[in-house]
Amino acid sequence: MSSSAEIRVLTTPQELFASAAEEVVRLANQAVAERGRFTIALAGGSTPKSLYNLLATNARTTLPWDRTYFFWGDERHVPPADPDSNYRMADEAMLSKVPVPPGNVFRVPAENPDAAVAAKEYESTLRKFFQLEPGQLPRFDLILLGMGPDGHTASLFPGTAGLQEKSRLVIANWVEKLKTHRLTFTLPVLNAARSVAFLVSGTDKAPVVRAVLEETVPGEQHPAKLVQPTDGKLIWFLDRAAASGLSLQK
Ligand code: 6PG
Repeated sequence: MSSSAEIRVLTTPQELFASAAEEVVRLANQAVAERGRFTIALAGGSTPKSLYNLLATNARTTLPWDRTYFFWGDERHVPPADPDSNYRMADEAMLSKVPVPPGNVFRVPAENPDAAVAAKEYESTLRKFFQLEPGQLPRFDLILLGMGPDGHTASLFPGTAGLQEKSRLVIANWVEKLKTHRLTFTLPVLNAARSVAFLVSGTDKAPVVRAVLEETVPGEQHPAKLVQPTDGKLIWFLDRAAASGLSLQK
């Protein structure tokens, strides 16, 4: 693990989300002050929902919502109203409750039955928004990530082709064990961010947290290990349960 990773172990999940929310607000105000806007890619799954709820209630007046631009680091291949949609989760938990202009929200067009076309469309959205030259990467102010028990992050699962992608920004990654495509940022996009924050909670994640942060397993087996921002900050927000396998916790 790169020595530049900052590991924050909080006693409870509530403290984890409070600490993460504080960091989001701090980065948002810093980005707006320095560059006039804050670009954030949201994580999916269940863990970040509590963070989004907290931001919607406690950061209503402190986060510059009108200067914040929301993207998703990955999305399931389902329509936005589907219970599995990462967009739907973030919209219900946060976006529908805060004064963010609809034009600031860029969801993945995952309703497209052709996952490859959806990925290409989202990639074009990124290229246009960030006004990218060919070969240039988008530099998000913050990318939020979760991690599965198998070490996957975003929708980069162990053993999937997506791990090898070095030029595309967004791909439709076939995940054999889920028998579905997932739409996901590629590693170059994750590693181009100014800040990347992992949010990991619960005892079930303790073994993989230890493997990623303290063991020398190859990244292909635990893709989260491959997230090493080239010129950015990496922060792991862990609660004590998720960190319980770490030697620093002994
Ligand atoms: C997704 C996420 C995925 C998630 C991990 C952890 O679309 O599911 O992007 O990478 O972060 O699977 O999920 P939990 O937070 O639900 O444990």
